[in-house]
Amino acid sequence: MERTALQHILEPHFLWFHRHPELGFEEYETTARIRELLAKTGAEILDLPLKTGAVAKIRGRGDGPVVALRGDIDALPIAEETGLAYASEHQGRMHACGHDFHLTALLGAAMLLGEDRENLEGTVKLLFQPAEETAGGAKKVLDTGALDDVDEIYGLHVAAELKPGVIGVSPGATYATVGAFRILIKGKGGHAAEPHQCRDPIAAAAQIINGAQTIVSRNISPFEQVVLSITHIEAGTTWNVIPPEAFLEGTIRTFSVEKLNQVAERLAQVCRGAAEMGGVEVDYSWQVNTISTKNDPALTEFVAETAKSLGFPVGPSTPGMGGEDFALYQQRIPGVFWNIGVGSPQVPHHPGFIADPAPLASASVLLAALAQRALKRLSGKNQSCSKTEVFEQL
Ligand code: NI
Repeated sequence: MERTALQHILEPHFLWFHRHPELGFEEYETTARIRELLAKTGAEILDLPLKTGAVAKIRGRGDGPVVALRGDIDALPIAEETGLAYASEHQGRMHACGHDFHLTALLGAAMLLGEDRENLEGTVKLLFQPAEETAGGAKKVLDTGALDDVDEIYGLHVAAELKPGVIGVSPGATYATVGAFRILIKGKGGHAAEPHQCRDPIAAAAQIINGAQTIVSRNISPFEQVVLSITHIEAGTTWNVIPPEAFLEGTIRTFSVEKLNQVAERLAQVCRGAAEMGGVEVDYSWQVNTISTKNDPALTEFVAETAKSLGFPVGPSTPGMGGEDFALYQQRIPGVFWNIGVGSPQVPHHPGFIADPAPLASASVLLAALAQRALKRLSGKNQSCSKTEVFEQL
């Protein structure tokens, strides 16, 4: 199929998905539409215990290797402010992270691969992942066992800062290890006029906030990337009462679990100090929500070469402090998470984010080519491997 013809087919689907955003694990309409469109490509939809999202496979010749392509499908709880003619019809929900683009591009890849299945030297699994934003989707898919036989995995994400159609790919980590913490300060409330009779949790919260700001600046090498942000604070109800409790939460982001642990432990010390100083009790807890993505260096080269051979402009991807649960697949399966430029005027997760649909077919072509060529390379490897085995037997 011609790239322009494919673009023509994909655009109306993209607009439909953009108009109908659904949150993580609630992507029922989206899933129904994906299944309907997948059925027309000849892909076989696997029967899995997934309420939303889908995994389908396209089998080529014989029992070759297996390559997976992943696109996520969920939207965000954001009220869209793009002014687009095809803006969200679901109030307070928006495809503000380009997942509508990813899933449409993956459907396009399914169409291309379905058409050309006799040239596939193995099987392609198409993974429409639910709930990336809430970070439970990848685990849910892995738990089904649907990816147990996968040899390599490729996923894409739109990049606001890259011009439409530019491919960005870099080895190693480009998405962060993301941690979240919660701090509950238990003091003793009372009359604002008698602070000496109270244990003021707000004063302790202020100590913690100030102390936290020095963790990165005074403990971490300037050559390392670490962010600590306190993003939510609650305490009190009125002007003349010292409340009994205060609550804080926030996030730590960096590129390794070890570094995240180090920062989280330092924050624990700040909490202990504030508790001592304010005579309050501080309950502090934290967890790692997402590990860093990790692009296999050799496969990164393979993606860059494939993109170049198809005539795409290729550059490095911009590392960011956002999280991506594609990292969970990469923990088990070698793979690459690459970017495609969509030239948005605003960053992802902003109500003004716009993914230009123009490079949709290009994304599909690259996804399909990666699957096709990876299968070819992998089945070549198997053949030469069995040849050496024969050799050894002789
Ligand atoms: Ni995203």
